[in-house]
Amino acid sequence: MPKTVLMCPPTYFDIEYEINPWMHQEDQPTSESASEQWRKLYNIYTQRLGWHVELAEPVKGLPDMVFATDCSLVIDDRVMLSSFLYKERQPETAYFEAWFKDHGYKNLAKAKNFFEGGGDTLLFGDKIIAGYGFRSSLESHDELREYFSREVVSLRIIDPNFYHLDTSLTVLSDNSVAYYPGAIDEDSQQRLRAAVPHLIEATLDEARGFGLNATSDGKTIICSDESKTLLQKYKDAGFEVIGTPILEFRKSGGGVKCLTLELR
Ligand code: ARG
Repeated sequence: MPKTVLMCPPTYFDIEYEINPWMHQEDQPTSESASEQWRKLYNIYTQRLGWHVELAEPVKGLPDMVFATDCSLVIDDRVMLSSFLYKERQPETAYFEAWFKDHGYKNLAKAKNFFEGGGDTLLFGDKIIAGYGFRSSLESHDELREYFSREVVSLRIIDPNFYHLDTSLTVLSDNSVAYYPGAIDEDSQQRLRAAVPHLIEATLDEARGFGLNATSDGKTIICSDESKTLLQKYKDAGFEVIGTPILEFRKSGGGVKCLTLELR
């Protein structure tokens, strides 16, 4: 099924502050190559996969708006808007809220507790797999449970390099998930094993290549082309894989999935 996703062009993308271990103001992305990598991903979605890509208007001074997935979690017609932990990102929510209103969404709620949208939530069948510990709070998971009437599998993130759950875990299909176990605590690993029939494990090195920051339509996985061994694991599990260069965005701690908010 072709998907509909929301992206935000990298017009004002750079490293203006440091809020995760990947960000260093002295290591700036090159704007041409960031634009080229973003455009490649956009073309994969629209031309190769036939997905529909909606666009949000980028805002000067909000360089991380490019990571559209962080603005909310959308399920059907319901939107839970993010409450960002860092003040640098907090103004993003109002712009995305306006986008949803302009596009006919009527059921909008803003999280009362810290919550960073798709950065920390992944849909797995009728469950929500949700991370907490760095950006989103455990309390926000109660809000999700209530607002979406869905079961939430809470995972505690323990490695600051994987501060958002979507940097260390990706849903590949209705029964499979790939993840880097070291990013979450032991109890969370157990909860994940209980919830997911088929788990693919990635190594720390593979995770650092941002190949777990992926999108998938259940058959084709789109992710960073950096870690060949991880791409091979996806292929061995029967998926088609589209690897794409995305490392300009890793300078900000992001990748393919961060750039993509799933709408439908
Ligand atoms: N620089 C951004 C931040 O630290 C990167 C966000 C990446 N988003 C994600 N879903 N992992 O907030």
